[in-house]
Amino acid sequence: MLAGKRILLVIGGGIAAFKALELIRLIRKEGGAVTPVLTNAAKEFVTPLSASALAAEKVYTDLFDLTDEAEMGHIELSRSADLLVVAPATADLMAKMAGGHADDLASTLLMATDTPVLVAPAMNVRMWLNPANQRNVALLEGDGVHRVGPDEGDMACGEYGPGRMAEPQAILAAIVERLADGPLKGRHILVTSGPTTEPIDPVRYIANRSSGAQGTAIAQALAGLGARVTFITGPATVPPPQSVTVIKVETAQEMLDAVRATLPADAAIFAAAVADWRMATASGGKIKKDKSGKPPALELTENPDILATISKLKKGRPRLIVGFAAETDDVIKNATAKRKRKGCDWIVANDVSPETGIMGGSENAVTLIDADGADSWPRATKDQVARRLAQRIADALS
Ligand code: CTP
Repeated sequence: MLAGKRILLVIGGGIAAFKALELIRLIRKEGGAVTPVLTNAAKEFVTPLSASALAAEKVYTDLFDLTDEAEMGHIELSRSADLLVVAPATADLMAKMAGGHADDLASTLLMATDTPVLVAPAMNVRMWLNPANQRNVALLEGDGVHRVGPDEGDMACGEYGPGRMAEPQAILAAIVERLADGPLKGRHILVTSGPTTEPIDPVRYIANRSSGAQGTAIAQALAGLGARVTFITGPATVPPPQSVTVIKVETAQEMLDAVRATLPADAAIFAAAVADWRMATASGGKIKKDKSGKPPALELTENPDILATISKLKKGRPRLIVGFAAETDDVIKNATAKRKRKGCDWIVANDVSPETGIMGGSENAVTLIDADGADSWPRATKDQVARRLAQRIADALS
């Protein structure tokens, strides 16, 4: 997704610097090239050799390294990239950027560039919330600097709150969003995927056999066409796609909350196999065997229907909503009725009878149902189905 693109990666001096090494790996896996630049402080956390080995490129560290200046001046270095990424962007580095300092190679490159800049801040929560830092963040935003994160969570210093650097995968997603070309560039699409799990008690849960493979392939294909994808997934067995923002949930209610928090979106693809029911009241303690040998009665209640809820939104409904219909009998008839009942625009129907091997398998045979009727696609790999669907979505949104 990043073939032919070059990222100049400025690694700042913070404990999150080690995650920048993973970011180099991810960018290269997507076909992009990385030129690493380490600040002096960064060298205390990661070695230039590790950055260079992972990037398979020369690493730049010093403004006054004359050999580098002879080979490539800092002006040229800063402009030969398609995007400058600062990760981790420390409070100090952002202050330098906001103040226009140029007293080392990293800050000089950032001053000299006319290429877009993306920062991934990382610092202690108090530093992040400090008014001086917040002022600098606002100044940088005003200057058109893009930002990903910081996340909220446990910090290396033992505190909790906003300040943790965004995960490398989320930084990659932000990079792809800026650089990937394609018909869906500038569009935001949310995809739900995987099963949901509903607790019975602290150790047991209701689940289903969804692997998340089809939803993952769709998210990947949409990102491949340039979309910014938010991928909301239950506990799937396949790993999430690389270049998208991933939100992990467990229950149907959590998935609905995450979907609502993710809107607005241009399109929403509901590929998750959401559990229809949950326990009316999940037990706080482990349910013990009854001495009489009588099994416990599990009282269930219906989960919210995420697809129907979002399809029926009066305000903020995505322009295109695609649902899935997993059926074992009368596939097209049931799926056509489901499209009407749920109020979505398209339904991707598939036969999940065990003999088809589709649930948990690598292939799928789907029928796309819209207001005009049903279009059955030949059986293909889930990746191929995903690419065809992504192209259809791109056509519909164009
Ligand atoms: N879906 C959802 N929320 C639910 C149940 C389903 O968002 N609580 C979505 C799924 O992601 C899928 C579509 O609805 O896109 C259809 O799912 P399916 O399981 O086939 O349908 P059900 O609503 O469960 O209907 P039925 O059990 O009658 O087949």
